[in-house]
Amino acid sequence: MKLGIASDHAGFEMKEELKRHLESEGHSVEDFGCYETESCDYPDYAQKLCKALLANTVERGVLVCGTGLGMSYAANRHKGIRAALCLNTYMAEMSRAHNDANVLVLGSRITDSDTARDILLVWMKTSFEGGRHLRRIRKIDGES
Ligand code: RB5
Repeated sequence: MKLGIASDHAGFEMKEELKRHLESEGHSVEDFGCYETESCDYPDYAQKLCKALLANTVERGVLVCGTGLGMSYAANRHKGIRAALCLNTYMAEMSRAHNDANVLVLGSRITDSDTARDILLVWMKTSFEGGRHLRRIRKIDGES
């Protein structure tokens, strides 16, 4: 799968680790920054990734900031983006199966790296169930 990944300074280390992990699993990963630990603004990186996702340059995305909150706010402003801040594997599974989340958000100051990896693994492998859930996610964007 072709994935996009981005973070702010707080999420930089976790982004790098998850990127390496995804690449080792055979995925192609486009890194939208940031590229260093100097303080920066999370909306700038959320916008870059969401624009690429909406343009179909990447199929799904991963965003990391300190809490995951700022990245979630910024990403979910974009119509068509369903960004899920996941704290455990159950949330990761449900965000895909029921909500067809196209962006996974992680908080590097909240979630340890082993848990983050587990969350990512479940999120990557879980398929959207469709059916009644498709009707519901269409309503999020005001379709029907
Ligand atoms: C950066 O200090 C922090 O505010 C940011 O990473 C994120 O947690 C915002 O929601």
